[in-house]
Amino acid sequence: MVEDQKTTMYMAEPIMDWILNGIPEPVNVKLFDDVGSIYEAQLAKMELSSWWRDLEAFRRRCAYFEEVNGEKSFHYYISNIKGKGQIGRTSQYLTHWFYPYKAKFHPQMVKALINWMGLKGEDRLLDPFVGSGTTLIEAKTIGVDSWGVDINPICTLMSRVKCELLDLTTEMLKEVPREKIFHHFNRKTKGVLGKTSNLELYVKNLEDESKLTSDDRVYRFYQLCYLYALSDYTYIKKPLWEGFNSNLDAILKTVEKFQDLKQKLDFQLGNVEVLEGDARKLSEIFPREYFAGIITSPPYSIAVDYIKNDLHALSYLNINADALVKDMVGLRGKGDERIDNYYKDMIDSFKEMNKVLQPNRYCITIIGDVTYKEKKLPIHRKYIEFAQNAGFTLDKIIRRPILGGYARLRYEYILIFKKINEVE
Ligand SMILES: C[S@@+](CC[C@H](N)C(=O)[O-])C[C@H]1O[C@@H](n2cnc3c(N)ncnc32)[C@H](O)[C@@H]1O
Repeated sequence: MVEDQKTTMYMAEPIMDWILNGIPEPVNVKLFDDVGSIYEAQLAKMELSSWWRDLEAFRRRCAYFEEVNGEKSFHYYISNIKGKGQIGRTSQYLTHWFYPYKAKFHPQMVKALINWMGLKGEDRLLDPFVGSGTTLIEAKTIGVDSWGVDINPICTLMSRVKCELLDLTTEMLKEVPREKIFHHFNRKTKGVLGKTSNLELYVKNLEDESKLTSDDRVYRFYQLCYLYALSDYTYIKKPLWEGFNSNLDAILKTVEKFQDLKQKLDFQLGNVEVLEGDARKLSEIFPREYFAGIITSPPYSIAVDYIKNDLHALSYLNINADALVKDMVGLRGKGDERIDNYYKDMIDSFKEMNKVLQPNRYCITIIGDVTYKEKKLPIHRKYIEFAQNAGFTLDKIIRRPILGGYARLRYEYILIFKKINEVE
């Protein structure tokens, strides 16, 4: 029995030896037990290589280590704030789970990459295809200021809310009775999606509604909460009021736990700015060389139809989906023309990323090769070509296997580019 325990304990040793190899001083760190993939060990090694000189700072920001100098890392506590109904360790911790969104990237991976880039203090980070805001949440928890851009207003709303929730308190969110809030957002759809007559009577007796909008952050939060219920109604026919209530209960627990954690640990949260905009026109939004780093996962071309997934929410917000599609990378055109457009758009996006990035800094893109008409499109190789033509050099490439029987992509590639030249 004792022998067995020893064997289990020692199994990770060669990995730790490899991770620590090259670090000139002894460091006392312990990986999370579930770090099982080679790419994770690689990222753990990379983040440690940038921070081993300042282990106290590393304890606050590391992604793959459970302990540093015998003390639990901040990530240990953060990742224990689990999403709705989740058990065990998951990537849907903190506010990451709040709003269903396909094609998110792995938060720990992003955090380790920000660490490896060594961003801190005045350094600004950009995600020009921000999606559900994964990059921004991770940057915020380690005190790095970040900017997110997305063409889709649903994405900018969810990214903003998920970050703002980290600054809010449950008291602020509970100021207005939830029936009243629900009614406010449900008015537009009543009679179509939900029977609200009883609620309406109740709400009539409640105080003035103006308070609902006194804090934009609170208003946005409830708007997203309603859209979440709308999504549950659309996809699983969960009654709106029921969905609204259960999501609200769950997210309030998340906010409360983070509030408690902020009292226990001394967090320095980064600032976040989210903008609706086009990644192909970044230099119209930001000054040249504004950012010290970029991490992003551009659309997977034909793999996910982001607009279709969000149609219910877009129509609720009166957003013209057809007009939006015209500017969405990966969705313009049909058949082979769509792929040509995708490549053109990514050529432009790489040029724009070059313009807003400081020299000798890193631009990290995460992408998989999708299959189209039974042929694998070599998208990651195209990206390397586009980036090289846009003033970058390929510094590193990490291949991440996508596990699970239904995965459309077998591998994702973390492409780390360094800016070596300016583009016009
Ligand atoms: C793969 S998703 C990003 C997912 C993100 N990494 C996350 O973790 O949630 C790609 C995003 O690119 C956005 N997008 C598409 N065309 C765009 C454009 N022209 N400019 C900016 N964003 C765009 C889509 O709306 C989508 O949210």
